[in-house]
Amino acid sequence: MKINQAFFRTIWPVVEGGAVEIIDQTQLPHRLHIVRIATLHAMVYAIKHMQVRGAPLIGAAAAYGMALGLANGDGAQDADIERTGEALLQSRPTAVNLRWAVRRMQRLLLALPVDERAAAAWREAVVICDEDVALNQAIGQHGLEMLRALASARGRGSAAQPLQILTHCNAGWLATVDWGTALAPIYAAHEAGLAVHVWVDETRPRNQGAALTAWELAQHGVPHTIISDNAGGHLMQHGKVDCVIVGADRVTATGDVCNKIGTYLKALAAYDNDVPFYAAVPSPTIDWGMQDGVREIPIEERDADEVHYMQGLVMDSASDGLHDKPTGHAMQRIRITPLGSQAANPAFDVTPARLVTGIITERGIATPAVLRQLFSADGRGMPG
Ligand code: MRU
Repeated sequence: MKINQAFFRTIWPVVEGGAVEIIDQTQLPHRLHIVRIATLHAMVYAIKHMQVRGAPLIGAAAAYGMALGLANGDGAQDADIERTGEALLQSRPTAVNLRWAVRRMQRLLLALPVDERAAAAWREAVVICDEDVALNQAIGQHGLEMLRALASARGRGSAAQPLQILTHCNAGWLATVDWGTALAPIYAAHEAGLAVHVWVDETRPRNQGAALTAWELAQHGVPHTIISDNAGGHLMQHGKVDCVIVGADRVTATGDVCNKIGTYLKALAAYDNDVPFYAAVPSPTIDWGMQDGVREIPIEERDADEVHYMQGLVMDSASDGLHDKPTGHAMQRIRITPLGSQAANPAFDVTPARLVTGIITERGIATPAVLRQLFSADGRGMPG
């Protein structure tokens, strides 16, 4: 996708090899900071500290992490490949794409002679990234068909009456290698001339909606409005949301959807107001071995400081709100809670399948009940 009209992916190999570059997402929307990553440990840090984030991008980053480990001194013996994978698996627990990518790399590498592994790892990481782009483009096209049908049923989709879509967190191109999952149908609709307007949940505590989704939609000229996390139910009660589309970090074989904390509350409000609720999910995000999302999916508990503090640019106190000017270039942290109060920070929640209207995948849209059939019925088999 684009930043200031120039094409970008979220992660790319540097031309001379042996390193990758990423967009440091902790600095957006205020600063476009590109970070070069040359070691496994730097990649583990980038995933843990959310310089790269979003389930598909975490998977792609982990694949490059394995390749960097092999290229830059972490060894290529079987035990090294096990250890490298383990270091990455420890970085973030919920997005199953990370495990999917590590296991895929390990399966491939362990079957090869030791001296061929480093080059093969690099090639496979490139393939995983290209596949992610293709999966998300396909999700975009299937989602576009759904949005077209919804727009025609509701008499929406014109500039005067855009289709109103609510999304939570960031499941746009920044959360993937390119295109995004939940935002892929939105970009496809925007390009196809179907007018859409996006309600962007701010997504406390890290504000991925306010900082990242709003930024990337603005870069592409997609009309949007940032709302506080608590506004969605009210908008739904007043007929201001035609559908909800979110991404996912892990979906069970039964269609339970684990996504950013707060997604469940949006799904409950959508259900209560007959608003269709979709999750856009590439197949590496499906955990075919899990049946019960609430009981089985590991939920990341992040540092309480993410709740205590907010990060942003300090604005000139003389600004009029329209022409705000930052007082400096460095991001500042401010404390918003009383010193001494405790905070808890579960990062994800699970929306039970019964609240999910459909799962938009690269192979089409399925209700949770037939998700497995969608992937087993076309003769191409289950992606693993
Ligand atoms: O903690 P994050 O920012 O990595 O969480 C990201 C999300 O919850 C996204 O909605 C999810 O990964 C879908 S990504 C296309």
